[in-house]
Amino acid sequence: MQMPAIIAHRGASAEAQENTLTAFALAADQGATLWEIDVRRTGDGALVVFHDETTERFEPIGRPLCALTLGQLRRIDLGGERVPTLDEVCALARERGCGLNVELKEVGYEEQVAYTLARHGLYDQAIVSSFYDEALLRLRAAAPALPRGLLMGVQRLDPRIRWREARPLAALRRVEATAWHPHFRLLLIPGLLRSVLQAGYQVNVWTVNDGSLARRLVAAGVSGLITDIPGTLVAALSNRDSFSRSLA
Ligand code: G3P
Ligand code: MG
Repeated sequence: MQMPAIIAHRGASAEAQENTLTAFALAADQGATLWEIDVRRTGDGALVVFHDETTERFEPIGRPLCALTLGQLRRIDLGGERVPTLDEVCALARERGCGLNVELKEVGYEEQVAYTLARHGLYDQAIVSSFYDEALLRLRAAAPALPRGLLMGVQRLDPRIRWREARPLAALRRVEATAWHPHFRLLLIPGLLRSVLQAGYQVNVWTVNDGSLARRLVAAGVSGLITDIPGTLVAALSNRDSFSRSLA
């Protein structure tokens, strides 16, 4: 059984402030292969690694990112750290030998992301993911060689979303994705994972924070686990390997 890619969700986010250089460095220390990073654009056009649409989790009166300059955003205190730029995270990924799973949180800056990854020599260690078909289609047009992961599994009571999630192959083909990024709950739909794997797609599952679930998913053939606890999963899966070796 092959070791999956361990993809640190917003860095080692269970132990450090999410989406910060500290969280990414810790993920590298813990053996993560890639870092999942949320990318947005500030009002003055800088690409930053930040999950939310507004700053409300970090200051009393939230402001939308698109109304802030990079300088204003950087004044927000994230427990002693600043919001990193995509450039800074790329430089650290290069230095630490980690790849990136870049999640496009909005549509409109796909070419800028591809250019930044290329400039840092990360093209071969990156996958770009999104919940938005439009973002992946625009990325394909700008950078056809970059792998693309289609995200699914938002908690919304919209029957169109449920319909689409029950038939992921149609959506994957439409955007010419190379990978499917489902929430692990979607894999409870019988036969779904097998059909996607048989069609030749990589499958990277989120957010897997449990060792036994991780082992079952790897046994079922998933290629990557997106997790808040990369160190724990690396240990859980390494123990599994030594356990199987001792039986061989
Ligand atoms: O890549 C999976 C995951 O990051 C998608 O959801 O909200 O954590 O960005 P979210
Ligand atoms: Mg994300």
